[in-house]
Amino acid sequence: MKNLKELFEHQLKDLYSAESQLVSALPKMVKNASDSKLKKAFESHLKETKEQKKRLEEICTELGIKPGGEKCKAMAGLIKEAEGFIEEAESDEVMDAGLIAEAQRVEHYEISGYGTAVRYAKELGHKEIAQKLQKTLDEEYDADNKLDKLAEGRLNEEAMA
Ligand SMILES: [Fe+2]
Repeated sequence: MKNLKELFEHQLKDLYSAESQLVSALPKMVKNASDSKLKKAFESHLKETKEQKKRLEEICTELGIKPGGEKCKAMAGLIKEAEGFIEEAESDEVMDAGLIAEAQRVEHYEISGYGTAVRYAKELGHKEIAQKLQKTLDEEYDADNKLDKLAEGRLNEEAMA
């Protein structure tokens, strides 16, 4: 990579790979969540993730590059870890708590990736692309906040029991 433009393109491909992997992995999270609110949160984030993937395709088309060809190894690792956890959880309670933790790791990873991408887009003068990436970034923040609330809700329920 010789310049910021190439680095930006690399980051976009990396994000595209991350979103693609997540589209394949989220149904397993939906299936294993037992709390109905958590299940719904994963379902709605799956829909959102498909849109985010499409958004990246549009951005790549605008830039005249192909979104494929990279594998985001960090996301692969996060997903592998989540899948390993699913095998090990022995109660609904542990499963839900752990799924929230794994999902938040994913969101935080995406937040840092999109935060960087927004900055690079601005720096390179791609105003509309920066706005599109910002939209996804906002959605990732919302998803993370929703998971925070669900995690807190779990604690409150436990305290009441
Ligand atoms: Fe995403």
